[in-house]
Amino acid sequence: MERVSTGIKELDRMIGGYPRNRTMLLTGTTGSGKTILGLHFINQGCLDGKKCAIIATEETPEDIIAQGESLGMPLSKYDKKGILGIERVYDERAEYIKDVLEFDVTDIDELQSNIIGLLERIPKGTEIVLMDNIGVFTLNMSPNEFRAQFDALVHGLAKKNITAMLILDSASDERMGGIAAYSVYGVLKTSVKDNPYTGSRERILEILKIRNTKIPIDPARFDVTSSGIALLTK
Ligand SMILES: Nc1ncnc2c1ncn2[C@@H]1O[C@H](COP(=O)(O)OP(=O)(O)O)[C@@H](O)[C@H]1O
Ligand SMILES: [Mg+2]
Repeated sequence: MERVSTGIKELDRMIGGYPRNRTMLLTGTTGSGKTILGLHFINQGCLDGKKCAIIATEETPEDIIAQGESLGMPLSKYDKKGILGIERVYDERAEYIKDVLEFDVTDIDELQSNIIGLLERIPKGTEIVLMDNIGVFTLNMSPNEFRAQFDALVHGLAKKNITAMLILDSASDERMGGIAAYSVYGVLKTSVKDNPYTGSRERILEILKIRNTKIPIDPARFDVTSSGIALLTK
């Protein structure tokens, strides 16, 4: 199976990259490093000359670009070159909600629950996609409805020959009963934990599954530095 670089050398060495034309799920708590892990994947795709897209449901494109730049990723350059597209789903959600609240409150659920609609936001010819964060669409969803839409999304991505990373925050993932993990090819999880022996906080990356791939059973510690995620391998 062909692989696509994760954008992090040590992680490529550990898992051989993400499986091409498949979807990875990334879960984790707030501030645990999900967006940064996703940005490494996008930055590498752009560097390799692949057409990339970020579907940004939680942040403005400006904030995402600024975050990337602060980690040494020239996202603004890629954006200007047209190799990176950042979809303004966050702004649109906010504006639409404002309109709906002024006119008709009952429409809110519909906009807030349209996961499949994200497929249409991917520019033609895109090879690499990061969706950050799908959890915002699940607030009013039953696990059943979520599973149906999430499956359709993963299926649609595969049909478009896209290598994708879907971010789903831990709270939403748990609310949906953890079912997102079943539909995807691989699952990663970031977290921040107290180390009882040292008394300090540690960032952790766990590789929960990748089909067809030998993966390390032990979680890996990492730091976030001025050049992004640095895995602390033994
Ligand atoms: N330029 C940077 N240098 C060092 N640490 C950073 C930098 N940018 C972000 N971080 C750290 O990374 C953490 C957030 O990672 P992020 O990927 O945004 O988390 P998540 O998407 O899981 O909420 C922040 O809490 C911050 O501590
Ligand atoms: Mg984030």
